[in-house]
Amino acid sequence: MELHEAIRSVRPCRSFLPRPVPADALRRVIDSARLAATGSDQQPWRFIVVQDEERKRKVAQAVTRGGFLNLAPVLVVALGVEEAAPALVGGYMMSYPLEVAASIQNLALTAAAEGLGACWCTDFREQKLRELFHLPEGIRVVGVIPLGYPDPATPTNGSSPGRMGFSEIVSFESSPW
Ligand SMILES: Cc1cc2nc3c(=O)[nH]c(=O)nc-3n(C[C@H](O)[C@H](O)[C@H](O)COP(=O)(O)O)c2cc1C
Repeated sequence: MELHEAIRSVRPCRSFLPRPVPADALRRVIDSARLAATGSDQQPWRFIVVQDEERKRKVAQAVTRGGFLNLAPVLVVALGVEEAAPALVGGYMMSYPLEVAASIQNLALTAAAEGLGACWCTDFREQKLRELFHLPEGIRVVGVIPLGYPDPATPTNGSSPGRMGFSEIVSFESSPW
């Protein structure tokens, strides 16, 4: 899939076929996450790939309205490493969530190029995931991402009214406020 087309067409996928993701495709998807840019090249991320059914079920249980995660053959738990990104953005905000976000967008776009669907879920109870994976202090869960072949029979796009228009969000030379 061509990049512009992918950016314009990719939507979260919440329904998956019971078809395994080939190891080489999965590798390319995860590898693209690793290649996102980070401040001072700190790479404050780690990714747990979950394919074991019982483990997936436990991860899905930690996500509110996460029942659909059980349908996906792969779950990726994206982690942020706080101490690897201590610099503040503009002096007020930690950078690791931004960097992990960029990695997740890479992952979602590469998944689309592989014919796969993904959905970045943040509605999880972090403590449950911390316990499940024995995460040490300073490691934070930023997202749980189901991956798999979309089920074309089931619409999964939710009820989004669509994106705001260009002129609604972009101003030239001066602030919109
Ligand atoms: C940071 C972030 C968190 C999200 N969390 C969830 C989530 O917990 N569960 C879910 O089903 N979708 C989640 N989504 C997907 C959004 O609901 C979806 O992108 C939005 O509704 C727009 O839908 P559309 O792309 O189909 O227009 C999340 C997306 C982002 C970027």
